[in-house]
Amino acid sequence: MKDIYTAPFVEEMRKTTANMYRLGWDERNGGNVSLLLEESQVKDYVDGAVLREIPTGFSCPELDGKYFLVTGTGKYFKNVQYAPEVNLGLVRLTDGGETAQLLWGFTDGGKFTSEFPAHMMSHAARLKIDPQNHVVMHCHPANLLAMTYVHTLDERAFTRTLWQMCTECIVVFPDGVGVLPWMLCGTNTIGEATAGKMKEFRLVIWGMHGIYGAGKTMDETFGLIETVEKAAQIYMLTAHLPRVNTIRDDQMVELAEYFGVNYRKDFLN
Ligand code: 13P
Ligand code: ZN
Repeated sequence: MKDIYTAPFVEEMRKTTANMYRLGWDERNGGNVSLLLEESQVKDYVDGAVLREIPTGFSCPELDGKYFLVTGTGKYFKNVQYAPEVNLGLVRLTDGGETAQLLWGFTDGGKFTSEFPAHMMSHAARLKIDPQNHVVMHCHPANLLAMTYVHTLDERAFTRTLWQMCTECIVVFPDGVGVLPWMLCGTNTIGEATAGKMKEFRLVIWGMHGIYGAGKTMDETFGLIETVEKAAQIYMLTAHLPRVNTIRDDQMVELAEYFGVNYRKDFLN
């Protein structure tokens, strides 16, 4: 067996959660990340022995047999880099997704994030659209959160405003952002609602709570959220000031066409 502390997926999770913390996206235990792994990626690092079986509280047959590295509930992102074995867990789903078999981690008796339903249901939804999707990421970026208090939560209007805030936005997330109203977090209900939005969007905003991103790689997913947060920052820096200039809809079309991205045409005037 190779040392799991040297596994690329553990290293990537340590670095990513540290970056998210550094950017202020994950105060205290805020935020959670799950990374889908292939058996070939994990087999050299764990022997397959099941340390514990943890009920998930939902069923997700599409993910049966799949492996995930996931952050723990109540765990602080600032600590992941120093003690990955306590703050992370490697699980394999079984029983149609109703049970998570712990293969490594959560050494203090902990378990996966309370947002496991939203993560797993989102993975299942995104995999149907993009078989290369491997990452689901949730966090609480300050400007985005602030924007959900002062901007309508209509997803067309919210997307269009974000696209107007930075030239690159329509190129980075041409599919736009889905928006959910405030809902009770940590439940199967918000998980199902998030996964429903994930059929259309790689980014889903939870009003007055935070954001979910999904992507092929950790970098892609991080970059999506980073771009939305930057756009929200520009919005919050300017929303109270007279708007003298803007990126017009015809300019956004020009951008999307030049970069060859398939954008939500119904989100522009
Ligand atoms: P967990 O500590 O259970 O991951 O919850 C954090 C969070 O952001 C809830 O939405
Ligand atoms: Zn949260």
